[in-house]
Amino acid sequence: MFDPEDHTSNPTIGAGAPLIGEIIQARLSRRTVLGGLLAGAGALVTGCTIEPVAKKSTFSFQEVGRGMDDNHHVPPGYTADVLIKWGDHLFDASAPDFDPYRQSEADQLARFGYNNDYIGFVSLNDDPSRGLLCVNHEYTSAPLMFPNVAKDFPKSMTQDHVLTEMAAHGGSIVELRLQGGRWQPIQGSPFNRRITAHKSPMQMSGPVAGHDRLKTSSDPTGRLVAGTMNNCAGGITPWGTWLMAEENFNLYFTGKLDDDHAEAANHARYGLSYSLFSWGKFFDRFNVEREPTEPNRFGWIVEVDPRDPTSTPKKRSALGRFKHEGAETVIAPDGRVVVYMGDDQRFDYVYKFVTKNALRKDQPDPDLLDDGTLFVAKFAYDGVVDWLALRFGEGPLNETNGFNSQADVLIEARRAADLLGATPMDRPEDVQPDQKTGRVWIMLTNNHQRSAEQVNAANPRANNNNGHIIEIVEPAGNFGSTRSRWEILVKCGDPNDDTVEATWNIATSDDGWFGSPDNAALDGAGRLWVATDGNHTTGAADGIWAVETSGARKGMGSSFFRAPIGAEVCGPQFSADSKTLFLSVQHPGDGPGASFENPLTRWPDFQPTMPPRPSVLAIRQLNGDPIGS
Ligand code: FEO
Ligand code: CA
Ligand code: CA
Repeated sequence: MFDPEDHTSNPTIGAGAPLIGEIIQARLSRRTVLGGLLAGAGALVTGCTIEPVAKKSTFSFQEVGRGMDDNHHVPPGYTADVLIKWGDHLFDASAPDFDPYRQSEADQLARFGYNNDYIGFVSLNDDPSRGLLCVNHEYTSAPLMFPNVAKDFPKSMTQDHVLTEMAAHGGSIVELRLQGGRWQPIQGSPFNRRITAHKSPMQMSGPVAGHDRLKTSSDPTGRLVAGTMNNCAGGITPWGTWLMAEENFNLYFTGKLDDDHAEAANHARYGLSYSLFSWGKFFDRFNVEREPTEPNRFGWIVEVDPRDPTSTPKKRSALGRFKHEGAETVIAPDGRVVVYMGDDQRFDYVYKFVTKNALRKDQPDPDLLDDGTLFVAKFAYDGVVDWLALRFGEGPLNETNGFNSQADVLIEARRAADLLGATPMDRPEDVQPDQKTGRVWIMLTNNHQRSAEQVNAANPRANNNNGHIIEIVEPAGNFGSTRSRWEILVKCGDPNDDTVEATWNIATSDDGWFGSPDNAALDGAGRLWVATDGNHTTGAADGIWAVETSGARKGMGSSFFRAPIGAEVCGPQFSADSKTLFLSVQHPGDGPGASFENPLTRWPDFQPTMPPRPSVLAIRQLNGDPIGS
């Protein structure tokens, strides 16, 4: 999601900031590394093509040029199929085509939702020609989605609009089959499923389930939630379940508690004074003055079994409550499962969760994620990152500070992390581990509110408009380690502008740099691909870039995909054979003043009566080779 998540709600920024000498040392060490490259090339790090630096890039495609227009772009020799669009019917091939002028809750419940974000792919019966696409629907943009709403928004929002929005949230599971080398959605597959914000019962699971702070008037058990929302990125577990990350849940709640209310400080730390949606106008559940504990039931990682359409999703509270961007999973050498997660807000934190028990591959424990330890990252200037445990009763996480149980620690994970001295980051989005190499990449999208006094080693730029990518190396591939090494892979932005202080490999072309890294994926060769949300602030559309992570070209970017105007790109996901790259084009045509009647583009239908439709694309090479080869 874009700007609404940018508000700062961490009152403790500065805790974890290093001394100025440490910052200078960190900067110098990075420049020394670059200097080694520069000395040989005899040039500054700029967008100018310097040949040759070293061996060729491992990515083989002709870059897509910088620019911004109403359509998407792929390199020569590639094609992008529009796989599925907002409004496509999931259950009935004979259903009428989507009619944006006749939207309703009932109709939307049967159709692909709005603003597709994370994409997961789960194989079916070990059949390489069948799979389940698991897609998050992060949020709705009502002025762009509904006719005649923009002019008097939000007053124009009716209860029917809100119910349709709720039905367009959540996620979709869609069976795909490989036919003639192309993936096709199967309408009416028994696996197809919609998950929504209001009609999908979910079980609270783990240490928080049943706690008083989760009980509401409609759920006195504190164990049953009516849905999920603002599902941003996510992950697929080794046992084939889908993790949906609940991100900006605060935006859906109206009202404000008195300062002396027991939940007031908790609400403030999660930014609950700021609502973008009209849900609280019609439903008490989303009015905190009526239901002050309802927000405690959101901000979790939701686990869904896509192979069982009747399964009840579970909110895995052991993984903590924050504005979860994603949840990518790897297995430590001792068999424990590790989930990497970012809390996407300015000055919030990077986490990992380590299960207590090892994964039994012969008989996976379906509730493995209910028991384990949540850690938050503290970055030191010398390239060390310490993972600090959020355990009730340890250090400051005790009654004196208002924590009476592990449930309290998890519900207020942000405040617990504040007290532990975690490092405030520049909006952590996807955190992408590589099972094979023990490396982990953190996308830090941007933070223009960081002042010169607030820089720290891992977030070294004040007014960081373009973000950066950190690489963590887990010792000997031990993802469960509590101490790891780190360095900055790239500081993003325009390398031609010295004031930006970008650091790209000098082989990076004028098309190969970008700003605002957001989601990331690894292909079958372990190569990193980065999607952006906010590159438009550099004057060009968002897209996907390949980024070298090793060798002489480490830190080189190459432009692979360009989104239509107004869109961000999310959910990059490769098929198992890396021959297809699935990606989400989210909020196409959106921007200041954009509306259903006057969008910035009508992508991908380009019909005068059809608004832009968020869609999933499937990109492949015309010759059938793997992507980027
Ligand atoms: Fe939903 Fe942080 O992007
Ligand atoms: Ca984003
Ligand atoms: Ca995102």
